[in-house]
Amino acid sequence: MVNMKISMIGGTGYVGLCSGLGFAIKGHHVICVGRSEEKVSKLKRGISPIYEPLVDEHLKKVLENKNFEATTDLEYAIRNSDVLFISVGTPSNADGSIDISDIESASVQIGKLVKTSNSYFVVVVKSTVVPETTEKVVIPAIEKHSGKKAGVDFGVCMNPEFLREGRALDDFLKPDRVVIGEYDKKSGDILEKLYKEFSAPILRTDMKTAEMIKYASNSFLATKISFTNEVGNICKILGIDAYKVMEGVGLDSRIGKQFLSAGVGWGGSCFPKDVAALRAKAKQIGYEPRILDVITETNDVQPLKLIEILKKKLTAIKSKQIAVLGLAFKADTDDVRETKAAIIVEKLLDEGATIQAYDPKAMENFKELFPKIGYSKSAAEAMQGSDACLILTDWDEFKALKDSDFDSMKSRIIIEGRRVLDRTKVNGLEGICW
Ligand code: UGA
Repeated sequence: MVNMKISMIGGTGYVGLCSGLGFAIKGHHVICVGRSEEKVSKLKRGISPIYEPLVDEHLKKVLENKNFEATTDLEYAIRNSDVLFISVGTPSNADGSIDISDIESASVQIGKLVKTSNSYFVVVVKSTVVPETTEKVVIPAIEKHSGKKAGVDFGVCMNPEFLREGRALDDFLKPDRVVIGEYDKKSGDILEKLYKEFSAPILRTDMKTAEMIKYASNSFLATKISFTNEVGNICKILGIDAYKVMEGVGLDSRIGKQFLSAGVGWGGSCFPKDVAALRAKAKQIGYEPRILDVITETNDVQPLKLIEILKKKLTAIKSKQIAVLGLAFKADTDDVRETKAAIIVEKLLDEGATIQAYDPKAMENFKELFPKIGYSKSAAEAMQGSDACLILTDWDEFKALKDSDFDSMKSRIIIEGRRVLDRTKVNGLEGICW
């Protein structure tokens, strides 16, 4: 095993921390660099600044083994690393394109800090960036501020991440594939060594191909879900169970079983941002990405299908008390970015409903979006006296609900935005697409 010294710039966020921790678990020495003193100090004490299963336990172990450090001092990190990962955020601009200001400033800082260094190092872009960013933004900035030459004094790779929130560490340690976009062979060889202990196929490409693989993967998965939701909406009218249909479809090995669960639509910090960025890039180069445009439109209206069903059941939503279970953009996370729960709650409030909301992890974050709605300590408490209950995510806790748990509701109207419960065992249950 080759132990390498790695720095993660943006090492306190989901991707940087989980990737850094993953490399440390594999035996490399990792320094996670963050800007927030508070987050770095938490990491030093073995406390994860993000909610992500398994991170706390592993953090304690790698700190004990002394192969994991956290710091705000970028210079210290760079001086002590052979490989520098850039995993800072690339949020959306108003037109859907990505804001690369953090990528630019990280590249400038690296350039300035390595100016006087004589040792060879490899810069790896892990942040999701549109094709050509590594070549046209990162490399020129480092070269300009360091006076050094890519391919001679330092190496460059683009290495996209495929981590799902809620299982990021597991995805990192057991990837389906590792994509290495390399500036030159020497850089690619070094990065391949870092992934030596991973039993996954390694695909080596040029940098812009690697950048595109990330966008194509996320956009394809989003398309798969939108397609499933479209089939689901047709199934709903025809009285067909969309979950059974997609089970049958997914048994075809050319299609595969995953990401065929119908629901309220895709949200989170990745799919909406990445589909928007690929659309923006396509339009910028004079191409109309019609499939990506349509899946975005259908995804925007999908959560409103739930309200349509609710209206049919309740006749009027005004003055009704609605229990909303599941506030994060999916189960097993506290992340409420681009959550469909926000669209649904907004619409219910517009129609004059009162809300009693519950989520096992995401209530504090949701309170920042909706400080004035009611929050309950449990699903049972949220349901108490409610006229209807909407289940939006498939937390295990919701899957465990029994028929009698809904007895405290004023009327038994339960609508699922994601298949959670068994219709044959819970009375009054209806699904968005089944
Ligand atoms: C996604 C990708 O799955 C990761 O591979 C990628 O690395 C990550 O984005 C990223 O770019 O960083 P994530 O956003 O954490 O991961 O969540 P997913 O589990 O992919 O779910 C995304 C959305 O699709 C959620 O709203 C989820 O509820 C929805 N979804 C997922 C469905 O509606 N149906 C499905 O069958 C699967």
